[in-house]
Amino acid sequence: MEKIIINGGTSLKGEVSISGAKNAAIAILPATLLIDGICTIENLPDVSDVKQFCSILEILGVKLTWKSKHEVEVDTRNIVKTSELDITRTFRASYYLLGALLGRCGNVQVGLPGGCKLGARPIDLHIKGFEALGANIDLSQGNISATCKRLTGTTIYLDFASVGATINIMLASVLADGTTIIDNAAKEPHIVDVANFLNTMGADIRGAGTDVIKINGVKKLHGDCTYSIVPDQIEAGTFMLAAIATKGDIVVKNCITKHLESVIAKVVEVGGNVDSNGDKLRVWMKKRPSKANVKTLPYPGFPTDLQAQMGVVLSLAEGTSIINESIWDSRFQYTEELNKMGAKITSQGKSAIFEGVNHLIGAPVAASDLRAGAALIIAGIAAKGCTEISNLEHIDRGYENIEEKFRNLGANIKRVQE
Ligand code: UD1
Repeated sequence: MEKIIINGGTSLKGEVSISGAKNAAIAILPATLLIDGICTIENLPDVSDVKQFCSILEILGVKLTWKSKHEVEVDTRNIVKTSELDITRTFRASYYLLGALLGRCGNVQVGLPGGCKLGARPIDLHIKGFEALGANIDLSQGNISATCKRLTGTTIYLDFASVGATINIMLASVLADGTTIIDNAAKEPHIVDVANFLNTMGADIRGAGTDVIKINGVKKLHGDCTYSIVPDQIEAGTFMLAAIATKGDIVVKNCITKHLESVIAKVVEVGGNVDSNGDKLRVWMKKRPSKANVKTLPYPGFPTDLQAQMGVVLSLAEGTSIINESIWDSRFQYTEELNKMGAKITSQGKSAIFEGVNHLIGAPVAASDLRAGAALIIAGIAAKGCTEISNLEHIDRGYENIEEKFRNLGANIKRVQE
């Protein structure tokens, strides 16, 4: 078993470069299935979720030629299999295969993804969208099958601005007859990235990034293009909050400042400083953070995927803060681990109260999910003494070279094999 060992008490200093967005990558990879041709994707993050999606594409008959660790040529001309994809059961984002393969072949069957550590994860909005486009959906024995002769554009109102449902319906409707309108669409940066990718390949999608997306169906996507994935705003936010929690002074390179406005606002509210210059952000903190209340919301609100990292900052703040988690039912498991490190957090349901403490103390802790793992690394770097983090497979799903990036900022962090 691998563990991360951190000798804490370091103020982070230096520069860190942000990788491509994991959540964009695992939507753009299935989106390539809509092309009957070859395309190249650049700036893919080197993380296990991307590797897993690539394995799924290879099972489908897609030919992948890696040009470098971050660049792959994808040849989707010979898809051989669109059913009995059991591998998808353990990998939630594989639900994007439904939209992509419905669009491309009109027929797909995948293992139904189960719940996850963050709470119930229904896909009713995805299904409602496919059915509105004319697909027949069958749920049986843990599988979901979607079939259709032709998909026909229509207006689909989402009861909740779901990221996954917005992307999946967009994928299904790119090659449909006529026009599809997604009303109350999610606006996250990776939705815009998927739309930009598809438009580069010949799709006609307008309004991505607003709450109404209009997709005019086209006959074919042409391929023969190269697309570079947007920088990961959650990774950038993770390093920004790490600088605040450790009273550091860092420059976050290769990020899109506009995507980080809600994070910048909270950093400033707790007493931090931010200076933006093109695609770089300098973030520094000279004193103990002040208390702040946070509510997670769909973009452009404060992201749920930075809630745990913000929780570390608030556990060290002067005064009492409250976080309300409005997206997921069960996203405070990390607070028990932080309490083992001396934090004083009480969580109940979808909110938690953080009574700030002067310092955290290193302890053995376990990552319960991807972002909880990132939060524990930040806590370990800020804490006095030694922190041992286990369950690294969660962290490896979505952060590229995380120890190396923190080590380059001065942290005393290493990965060991036990
Ligand atoms: C995506 C992100 C995830 C992030 C989340 C919210 C990816 C791969 N993952 O997840 O990191 O935390 O957005 O920003 O991009 N819901 C329904 N019915 C549905 C779909 C969703 O009720 O059909 C509910 C969910 O239970 C949840 C909320 O809507 O409470 C948000 O889900 P959604 O926006 O779909 O998140 P994901 O796309 O799964």
